[in-house]
This record gives sequence, structure tokens and C-alpha cells, in this order.
Amino acid sequence: MTQPTAPARRIAVPDLAAKRQAGRPITMVTAYDWPTGRLADAAGVDCVLVGDSVAMVVAGRTSTIPATLEQMIYHGEIVARAVSRALVVVDLPFPLQHLGVRTAVESCARILKETGCQAVKLEGTAGQADVIAGLVAAGIPVMAHVGLRPQAVHQLGGYRMQRDLDAVTADARAAAEAGAFAVVLECVPREAARVVTATVGIPTIGIGAGPDCDGQVLVMHDLVGLSFDRVPKFVRAYADAKTTLADAIGRWRADVESRSFPGPAETLG
Ligand code: KIV
Repeated sequence: MTQPTAPARRIAVPDLAAKRQAGRPITMVTAYDWPTGRLADAAGVDCVLVGDSVAMVVAGRTSTIPATLEQMIYHGEIVARAVSRALVVVDLPFPLQHLGVRTAVESCARILKETGCQAVKLEGTAGQADVIAGLVAAGIPVMAHVGLRPQAVHQLGGYRMQRDLDAVTADARAAAEAGAFAVVLECVPREAARVVTATVGIPTIGIGAGPDCDGQVLVMHDLVGLSFDRVPKFVRAYADAKTTLADAIGRWRADVESRSFPGPAETLG
């Protein structure tokens, strides 16, 4: 198995631009708790995202809309403590990027101060450029998120591909001009991702956006096969954790019921 080449220091925001410049793919995966944070960091990814997808894959909600600032801070603090090498990014939950620059700065400052993460991510269109600029002016590194914006799922009519090349390009460009250090492109056609990546000037990190982005991000539970909902077509599962865990729990239950657990090795005294 290939061992990750781990630099001694933590990945910093400028390192992503350097990787883009060098043509080396950027990797980001979500984590929501201490074990997944530790595992992601040990695997050598560049960024660990404490996504508001926590509302779906951990809390079983049908969208990310219910995620609250308190929940993001709770999960963000745990993950930031677990991760020592990767850049930790925490999502700004709905609707805090839509309530003006002051609310966004107050909310993101709480995220940075109370979690110990290094950056925030926020979903938005060109309409949120002033908010990104305000955060950057306050010294808060911002990763933008355009294309399919899951917090706008009801407005967009579902979790579907965003085919408007002009809109995706305009949103990504506005985010870059406002000072975002990277942009997530979610569920956009390969050609849109290619054009944005070639023209936007900051690293693009794709999910369901094809291979031409500067990097890729996946939701941890999709990647390891621990998702209960229908998994999107763009996911590749590298494990079947759901089967592995269910099998382990089932075998333990059977051992208890047959009185073969606990055995002598698990009996103290
Ligand atoms: O919340 C999340 O997990 C995300 C990824 C899908 C990029 O925003």
C-alpha cells in the first residue's frame, strides 16, 4: 500500500494555490467526529471539511438546511482537535451568509475561535461576493461553493446538475475576485468545470464536476460505503463500511445470545 508523504507542518491556505500551480491534485474529504478526523488526516488528504452534510449523513436529515451554527461549532471543534496536518475547513450553515456582512463575520469568527479550524466554506452566488470580501477583510480565509448549492435545494428543484455555464462561471469568478482562496464546484458539467478551472485563478475543488478541477472532494460516508441514502453517480465507494459494521454487530449479538461472549479472554478477574 502506498504511504502518504506527510510534511511536518500543517497544510496552509497558500499551499493549495501552490499545488494548483504545480499541477498536483488537491484532496479534501469530509469528517464530523474524532475518529473520522483522525483517519482522514492519517490518510494524507490536504483538507478536511466539516461539512453541513453532517445533518444528512450523521443526523439522518433529508437536507443540510437544518444544520445550525452550534452544531457546526460542536463538530468542527472535535475534528480540528483530531486533525494535526490537514487544513480544516468548517461550513457556514444556512442562512448565515445571507444575513449581511456583519452576521457572517460574527458567525465565522465564532467558528474560527471556538473550533480552532483554519478556514470556512460558504455556499453562494455572485450575490454573496460582498460577504466573502467582508470575511476576507477580517482575515478569515473563505472557500466558496458554487454550482449545486445543497442549502438551496428547494429553490433549485432537487439535487441536480447545474448546467448554466454562464451562471457557474460568474459565481466562481465573483468569489475569486472577492478574495476566496478556493472554490468548490458541485454537480456541474465537465466542460463548465474545465472552463472555470482554466479561467478563475484560484483552485477549484470538484464534486460531481469531472476530472478537470484542481482537486476533488467527497463526503466521507459515501467514500467508505456508510451512506444510507441513494449514493450519487459521481461517487466511488472505496469500502463497504456499512456491511462490515453490520456484520460485526450481528456476530457480537449472536455470540452474546449463544453465551460465547464474553469468553475467558474477555473476563476480568
Ligand atoms: O457539506 C458538505 O459535505 C459539502 C461537500 C459536498 C463539498 O459541502
